[in-house]
Amino acid sequence: MEYAIEMKGITKTFPGVVANDNVDLQVAPQEVHALLGENGAGKSTLMSILFGAYNADSGTIKIDGKEVNIKDPNVATELGIGMVHQHFRLVHNYTVTENIVLGMEPRNKFGLLNIGAAEKRVAELSQQYGLQVDPKALIENITVGAQQRVEILKTLYRNANMIIFDEPTAVLTPQEIDELMEIIRRLKDEGKTVVLITHKLKEILAVADRCTVLRRGKYIGTVDVDSATEQSLAEMMVGRAVQFEIEKPPAKIGETALSIQNLSVADHLGHMKVKNLSIDVHKGEIVGIAGVDGNGQSELLYGLCGLLPVAEGQVLLDGKDITHTSIRHRVEAGLGHIPDDRQRHGLVSNFTISENCVLKDYYKAPYSNRYG
Ligand SMILES: Nc1ncnc2c1ncn2[C@@H]1O[C@H](COP(=O)(O)OP(=O)(O)O)[C@@H](O)[C@H]1O
Ligand SMILES: [Mg+2]
Repeated sequence: MEYAIEMKGITKTFPGVVANDNVDLQVAPQEVHALLGENGAGKSTLMSILFGAYNADSGTIKIDGKEVNIKDPNVATELGIGMVHQHFRLVHNYTVTENIVLGMEPRNKFGLLNIGAAEKRVAELSQQYGLQVDPKALIENITVGAQQRVEILKTLYRNANMIIFDEPTAVLTPQEIDELMEIIRRLKDEGKTVVLITHKLKEILAVADRCTVLRRGKYIGTVDVDSATEQSLAEMMVGRAVQFEIEKPPAKIGETALSIQNLSVADHLGHMKVKNLSIDVHKGEIVGIAGVDGNGQSELLYGLCGLLPVAEGQVLLDGKDITHTSIRHRVEAGLGHIPDDRQRHGLVSNFTISENCVLKDYYKAPYSNRYG
């Protein structure tokens, strides 16, 4: 059989990390193919290579049976490959149509932009694929779900036959997730091939035909979704039996350990992401923070551990005010932080484990004396 996409023996290293280690991927025409793996498994890297954003150290890629050299995203676009990135790449003060045609604007014989023709084409595409958007709306005035539809339309406007979605549901509400699943089915019905990067098993069972699993940069296997279960997929993903039912004894809650009082934290651009938030966390207690990606969870953690300044409010650790103290002071006061991308923010990957472990204590005995 001739595959729409065939990647063989793909290896890609970053300093200190083998992100893809001899990975294979075979995607049949017109299938929805899920790419499953934990955070850091190498999914985005593999698809960035297919999209020409990274070049592999070794390995080959065939598109529709022909070997290709995808040296940059322009080549990928010409080959009919489109990508909907995890973080959208839209110009916020441009309209929907302006964003979709950016870089390939239709012009009349005098070289003037023919925005009317573009809006017409956008309206046709959104009709055909059930992607509801207002072609004249400004990006900053539409919902995140609609912005994602603009990203999909951008790939269709460039005649993509294969569309890669990188963790598309992380930023969506449950209702928007259902709509996206519908859109993916529609794309397939209209003849498109879809690669869906995700670590959410329910989504795979809902829309995918087959699923390829990566673990720590390595290819684990490809399965038919019809014969897979959440259990079997989870086991492939993490490499051991996974318990879905948790036996949890009731918590023995002690006194307040961390007290967050009327906290406000702005992100790097100055947008207030945490607004007047108060939570008390007690000893012996695990507190979950639920929310769609991008709603202030990261800024909350950064504010607590000192990576972002606190704009307003107070943070007390064991009753002591740490609101504006240094990161080192907070660590010494007993606060730890495991970031979401440990490779990028938590660890120095070309240091040994022991070197990493002393990173926060290197200035103290026994690692150091008063002469350094
Ligand atoms: N540009 C980069 N520079 C350095 N390391 C990277 C880069 N991109 C990814 N990595 C590392 O490669 C590994 C795989 O990352 P990624 O492909 O983003 O995983 P996934 O998408 O499955 O979460 C991780 O350890 C990540 O930290
Ligand atoms: Mg990723």
